[in-house]
Amino acid sequence: METSRPKIKQLLTEQPIDTEVTIKGWVRTKRGNKNVAFIAVNDGSTIHNIQAVVDMTNFSEEALKPVTTGACVGITGKLVRSQGQGQSVEILAEKIEVFGTADPETYPLQKKGHTLEFLREIAHLRPRTNTFGAVLRIRHHLAFAIHQFFNDRGFFYLHTPIITGSDAEGAGEMFRVTTLNIENPPKNPDGSINYAEDFFGKETNLTVSGQLEGELGALALGLIYTFGPTFRAENSNTPRHLAEFWMIEPEMAFYDINDNMDTAEALLKHVISYALEKCKDDLEFLNNMYDKELLNRLNLVANSNFERCTYTKAVEILENCGKKFEFKPAWGADLQKEHENYLVEHFGKPVIITDYPKDIKAFYMKQNDDGKTVRAMDILFPYVGEIIGGSQREENYDKLYNRVKEMGIHEESLWWYLETRKFGTCVHSGFGLGFERLVLFVTGMTNVRDAIPFPRTPKNAEF
Ligand code: 4AD
Ligand code: MG
Repeated sequence: METSRPKIKQLLTEQPIDTEVTIKGWVRTKRGNKNVAFIAVNDGSTIHNIQAVVDMTNFSEEALKPVTTGACVGITGKLVRSQGQGQSVEILAEKIEVFGTADPETYPLQKKGHTLEFLREIAHLRPRTNTFGAVLRIRHHLAFAIHQFFNDRGFFYLHTPIITGSDAEGAGEMFRVTTLNIENPPKNPDGSINYAEDFFGKETNLTVSGQLEGELGALALGLIYTFGPTFRAENSNTPRHLAEFWMIEPEMAFYDINDNMDTAEALLKHVISYALEKCKDDLEFLNNMYDKELLNRLNLVANSNFERCTYTKAVEILENCGKKFEFKPAWGADLQKEHENYLVEHFGKPVIITDYPKDIKAFYMKQNDDGKTVRAMDILFPYVGEIIGGSQREENYDKLYNRVKEMGIHEESLWWYLETRKFGTCVHSGFGLGFERLVLFVTGMTNVRDAIPFPRTPKNAEF
């Protein structure tokens, strides 16, 4: 029965010695001589391969010929304690089936290590490498831990729309969704495009954030979170930006900025601790292969109390530190990557920066009494920089409405959002965790393109 066939992970941990087992997977290596062959097979359940030992008196050379690196095989035999070094158990092969061959002349994943850049070009095959097997398993466990964290605390998973008629961040970096013929669109008398004839009867885009609809959920269910894909047409070709990325956005009624920060910090510590516990083998592999500081960094963050510092204080620190930055720090300007790095190093742990100038933040953030700053909070991490952005929300109708006007935002597309401030408004807060930035931090990869199975970036939507 295929559904009950034990996976390699199970065979290596439970070690049911002397039982007959069948494994199915992809050949990593084959070596040996006239008398005996050793086939290392991986089925994706673990980073470890299982070794099949083939007594060549029972098999013809012809039968083993298609068993090459990359081929998909099924091997049946008795599980025994290994005589050799490097593995505790192995299979004495009795039957070998080849489900799919992989021509050694053209199969791109030969044994030698490939660069991560090269592997990006063969993203259809890179999940079969040790590195991407590890990254994808860790990604799964992180996603699961996120759902677990919220479920355990009474949050409801809310599915917010992918197609929207509003720009949640007001940054105008959206992908248009249309069924109009772009070569010959219907026009209004003044020559502009007549979106009334479009599929939804109006202009629509892919969402940049589920927050605004998330707030509607929180103002009814109390505690909600979203976990979905978001899309940004920002032309930033950096190791931290994707055009399609996944975001986790909790929204909490009656939470102020401090409750918001406590929740974000607890979430990050929970998921990192979970990965340290559940992904030991994969993390050890990545630690040894790419970054000897990885495990130390994860343990440090899981066990530290994040620093909390206002934007104003942060700018003071930057101005007085004596370091020469490429961008001179100045109150009112956005913090640059180099500034964020300095602050994280300065405190030696994650830092939550609060109370940013209102002019560099989105319209929905709660305005402070000083008239200059908003109750924003960004969490800066070692290694990846900004991992979370959030705020307490402006719950006062007039203040929110005036801010929308002031910032020149199309208020008609937000009537429903504004209306919640008229009907039973309350203090509430939320934040957005960039899932790939989290995966980047936990895996120690250096480019966010290696933290998602099939990255979308400017000029790149292959696979
Ligand atoms: O700071 P951002 O833009 O905040 C929002 O979208 C809010 N609506 C969140 C909220 O309060 N509910 O994005 C949140 C996080 C960032 O801190 C970063 O981790 C990630 O999303 N992020 C990206 N990740 C990959 N590629 C991009 N282009 C990203 N832009 C933001
Ligand atoms: Mg941000």
